[in-house]
Amino acid sequence: PPLDEILNLHDFEAVAKKVLPEKAWAYYSSASDDEITIRENRAAYQRIWFRPRVLRDVTSVDWSTTILGQKSSLPVYISATALGKLGHPDGELNLTRAAGKHGVIQMLPTLASCSFDEIVDAAVPDQPLFLQLYVNRDRNITKKYVQHAQKRGVKALFITVDAPQLGRREKDMRMKFVGDDAGAKVQEGQSDIKKNEGVARAISSFIDPSLSWKDIPWFQSITSMPIILKGIATPEDAVMALEAGVQGIVLSNHGGRQLDTSRSGLENLVEIVAALKKRGPWPNPNFSIFVDGGVRRASDALKALALGASAVGIGRGFLYAFCSYGQDGVEKAIQILRDEFEMNMRLLGARHLGELVPEMVDASALHSH
Ligand code: FNR
Repeated sequence: PPLDEILNLHDFEAVAKKVLPEKAWAYYSSASDDEITIRENRAAYQRIWFRPRVLRDVTSVDWSTTILGQKSSLPVYISATALGKLGHPDGELNLTRAAGKHGVIQMLPTLASCSFDEIVDAAVPDQPLFLQLYVNRDRNITKKYVQHAQKRGVKALFITVDAPQLGRREKDMRMKFVGDDAGAKVQEGQSDIKKNEGVARAISSFIDPSLSWKDIPWFQSITSMPIILKGIATPEDAVMALEAGVQGIVLSNHGGRQLDTSRSGLENLVEIVAALKKRGPWPNPNFSIFVDGGVRRASDALKALALGASAVGIGRGFLYAFCSYGQDGVEKAIQILRDEFEMNMRLLGARHLGELVPEMVDASALHSH
């Protein structure tokens, strides 16, 4: 369908499913094992209800924000999804260009199809970029990569901590990895590609499963970028992250692609905020909480923000937008979200994001209550 018939982010998924080659669809859409967590990521948002306030003069509403010190036109960032060229010849550049045009922040994946420098070169001057990091068994490779990223102006480092081994995504595993068909310039130091286990496993053998809390000071010693741990799921680990002196966490289950039957990031948010509040002033300007997984509407984001998140990440929503329509699709997705923020904030009675408070949602159906 023509782009102007796309009304919401779900519509992109339906188009992507039709236009993508079978293997790309399998890699992007798959989640681990029985795909229970990926469904739950959407379902959790549907258990939270709004408690809108009225008569507040909502003529003008403002949904812009600052994420880790960087201006963002939306309280949403583009989360890292690997191998963009499986879905579109321009790969990740579709996201970079659209993000630069509309003041949105993109998190670049370690396993991008385009090279790191190619992506940074496509950014407009002063366009903030974040970097997602898979830690290599060879720490020298990781050190060089991180320091190069900092030199090129990347503003924050998101270390993925929920993937010591990639989950079993069976839809993907039924496909065979063929040579370089992902267009992946996969990292140096990667050796044993397993060609019969699907795309995900083929590209991930360099990831170091020995990564531990003991390594955090080393990351802090090699970079002055803010460090965020992506893939935290419990109050115990959230408190350890705070104590380790990192600048934030992403409550995420990797889009349902890692440990199946993990809870959703949204579900975990309430008890994690409660645990962090006991440890000091809240909100803490030096420690941010992000949530991703299943966010497809501004209303989803508003729920997470009301419950204490600083911003939310969207993976597949933007990915499917560029698979279907390239850069135009991503721009349209941003525009749709912008319109949804405007309307939903008016209807909710929040004129700016600071007015989003826990009392604006009924989260009593979340398991943690
Ligand atoms: C991902 N995600 C991911 N995360 C990460 O840290 N490194 C990576 O390389 C990837 N790659 C990746 C590929 C694909 C195809 C998907 C769908 C996801 C996870 C991603 O950053 C984010 O956590 C989820 O995508 C959020 O869930 P939604 O928005 O896709 O529902």
